[in-house]
Amino acid sequence: MGREVKRRRTFAIISHPDAGKSTMTEALALHARMISEAGAIHGKAGRKSTVSDWMEMEKARGISVSSTALQFNYTSEHDGPDDAPHVINLVDTPGHADFSEDTYRVLTAVDAAVMLIDAAKGLEPQTLKLFQVCRHRGIPVITVINKWDRPGQTPLELIDEITERIGLTPTPLYFPVGIAGDFRGLLDRRTGEYVHFTRTAGGAKVAPEEIMDADAAAAREGDEWTTALEESELLTEMGQDHDQELFLAGQTSPMIFASAMLNFGVRQLLETLVELAPAPEGRADVDGTVREVTEPFSAVVFKVQAGMDASHRDRLAYMRIVSGEFERGMVVTHAQTGKPFATKYAQAVFGRDRSTVDLAYPGDVVGLVNAMALAPGDTLFIDPKVQYPPIPSFAPEHFSALRVNTADKYKQFRKAMDQLDSEGVVQVLRNDLRGDASPVLAAVGPMQFEVVTARMKSEFGVATTIEPLGYSLARRTDADSAVELGRQRGVEVFTRTDGALLALFSDKWRLQYVEKEHPDLTLEPLVATAD
Ligand code: G4P
Repeated sequence: MGREVKRRRTFAIISHPDAGKSTMTEALALHARMISEAGAIHGKAGRKSTVSDWMEMEKARGISVSSTALQFNYTSEHDGPDDAPHVINLVDTPGHADFSEDTYRVLTAVDAAVMLIDAAKGLEPQTLKLFQVCRHRGIPVITVINKWDRPGQTPLELIDEITERIGLTPTPLYFPVGIAGDFRGLLDRRTGEYVHFTRTAGGAKVAPEEIMDADAAAAREGDEWTTALEESELLTEMGQDHDQELFLAGQTSPMIFASAMLNFGVRQLLETLVELAPAPEGRADVDGTVREVTEPFSAVVFKVQAGMDASHRDRLAYMRIVSGEFERGMVVTHAQTGKPFATKYAQAVFGRDRSTVDLAYPGDVVGLVNAMALAPGDTLFIDPKVQYPPIPSFAPEHFSALRVNTADKYKQFRKAMDQLDSEGVVQVLRNDLRGDASPVLAAVGPMQFEVVTARMKSEFGVATTIEPLGYSLARRTDADSAVELGRQRGVEVFTRTDGALLALFSDKWRLQYVEKEHPDLTLEPLVATAD
């Protein structure tokens, strides 16, 4: 058991759309020999169509785009012949048009994050949002500068940008030899060796590597090598060498320069994950008592997805195993209801493919089919009982009123609303003025509204209309302040299903104005991860 846990690494890639997350996912799987040629996951030639078909299909049926986990084995160069391979779980963060609470929730299921940055673009908004969640949850971050085969910023510019904008100190492990657009290889700053890469046709195969000592590197790359050495020394002088404690504390970030497309730097990322990223650890329950990984089975549901399979209207709940061994078929207890839950249909899911999971360990992600009673944040366990803290709700930025089109469907409408609310598809806000017939939906990404209307129609037979509201920002308030806030222009107060009072503001200028005029009102930011 301890051995199974030790060899596991569970992580997510956080990035802005187009930084190369899909390409890197394929490259990682290629290196782990899970597939023989890059593209097997999405099918490189037909990748676009495969992915978009899937999304169209999901969209047409009103399901949120899948967030799943890819598992593969990896044997490190440092492993002995008798060592079992490492088990890598890559949990996908949905994050394109469908940026939603699920994107954040995934980060409650991982032990580390890889922040993937486009060398030409530097830090981008979605990466920043996701990074803040990692920081708040204390998830250590490895930084990968991708697309080094294309013109971009200099290494030191990128390092400065990260240091200054987010207060994270990059400590490059592998420094590029050759400027962005002329990617020759990597200086391994810890061994002083040079890793020279050779391109393969279309980047479809693992790029051959040649390891050289400093003299051979200097002879081969000349000035490019000298520049890399000088800049690396500069970083050492500034104290920017890897420090495991500071990395785990979220203060520094091991950094790798890479090209996912050419498969350069990908093996280095896998080695870094295996060597430096933490293995699964125990988790504190609602009372603060830690359930150790070696104790009996427990898991947290971090995402619930409806209707992936059109033939049977199923509902898939993804759980991250926290402790103990999971065996398919075992009957576990659902902590929230105290009811038994049979796990006959446990699956690993990636893309469209599902395969049955028979055994799983802490760090692994398992999909449970037919999970009608499960909601994000729920705990499953085998005695002794444990219940983990709920997944925090995240700060919504989009608000819409939802209306049922015909009054005779009102009952179904309420039922559907309760269902979608409990699944955590959107946050549901109500106030006396609008009444129950027109709740306000709050979401992190606007696509969630489409998901709601489509599911209302397909699963509950209720036609609804979405009306976007002119609010863009929410603050938590209290009953005393709510009275005064209710009198303000451009402000409306709501009660969320969990009882929290939220004041919605049209924009940040309105909020600033109200804060200035009424400094004693309670207006707390909804931290992206208010635990
Ligand atoms: P995403 O999942 O983060 O959105 O990004 P994705 O992997 O789809 O990559 C976005 C685009 O960037 C793709 O180009 C991809 O080929 C390219 N790309 C990813 N990694 C690298 C890299 O290391 N170097 C270079 N030069 N390009 C990279 P596209 O034109 O949109 O699609 P495609 O026709 O190339 O597949």
